[in-house]
Amino acid sequence: MSATVIDGKALAAETRERVRAGVGALRARTGVTPGLGVVLVGEDPASVSYVTAKERALAEAGMRSVDVRLPEGTGQEELLAVIARLNADPEVHGILVQLPLPRGLDTDAVIAAIAPEKDVDGFTPVNVGRMILGQPCFLPCTPHGVLRLLERAGARTRGAHAVVVGRSAIVGRPLANLLSRKAPDGDATVTFCHSATPDLGRFTRQADILVVATGRPGTVTAEMVKPGATVIDVGVNRVPDASARRGYRLRGDCDFEGVAQVAGAITPVPGGVGPMTIAMLLENTLRAAERAAGVAE
Ligand code: GUN
Repeated sequence: MSATVIDGKALAAETRERVRAGVGALRARTGVTPGLGVVLVGEDPASVSYVTAKERALAEAGMRSVDVRLPEGTGQEELLAVIARLNADPEVHGILVQLPLPRGLDTDAVIAAIAPEKDVDGFTPVNVGRMILGQPCFLPCTPHGVLRLLERAGARTRGAHAVVVGRSAIVGRPLANLLSRKAPDGDATVTFCHSATPDLGRFTRQADILVVATGRPGTVTAEMVKPGATVIDVGVNRVPDASARRGYRLRGDCDFEGVAQVAGAITPVPGGVGPMTIAMLLENTLRAAERAAGVAE
């Protein structure tokens, strides 16, 4: 293997430690403890494990989580009432609704109901609009984490050709936008690829920075990568494996072993982007609490 492995776990640990110090400082100065409302509907195993990890991280950072677990068959009105209650709760500074929601619920309407000043996921139309216009906003956690990982890897975005594969509202779309904005962690020339892109390798081979977020293992293989490129693998896929303790193994969207022979640097799965998503959520929650307490912009 020739690529440097970018250690998301270590960077996330540093970030979380900084947040923990910030939480202590805020409490000492104002008496306010940051609180996050965490809403999970149903029992999708991946969502349960993400939410559990987020709640553990909140506790370790000295924050409060207000956990709302709702059964699979929860109705739209009931869920909107939960959001309204969290919007009105002065001890809740941020709200996270774990996605995807079970079928039958209107995700767009639920997200739009979150008060923008509590939207620490950066998913509401108001936040997305602000981001695209370059106005102050909460950046969505996974794309923000990717930018931090690029910085840590020493991958300059300015003037680089960045190729983003995957057009989800949570990762690909915001990331393509952030990488192209006029900013120290932007200024890249961005090519935005997706499931309707023919001959994906023709584009990915031109990437100095390649971000893969399709949710499909094996999307990018070694011959699709430019030698020396920085590769960020956002995928977290459960691939059945009878020899693994839980009966599955976590795999990214890239063929890690092959791509690591060619790339200059690559994030592992697990231990790359995932921990940074949580760290960025904590940062946003702290900032939401600081704003509510009147000590931050
Ligand atoms: N599902 C997958 N990623 C995320 C995320 O960052 N936030 C929420 N709320 N749901 C998700």
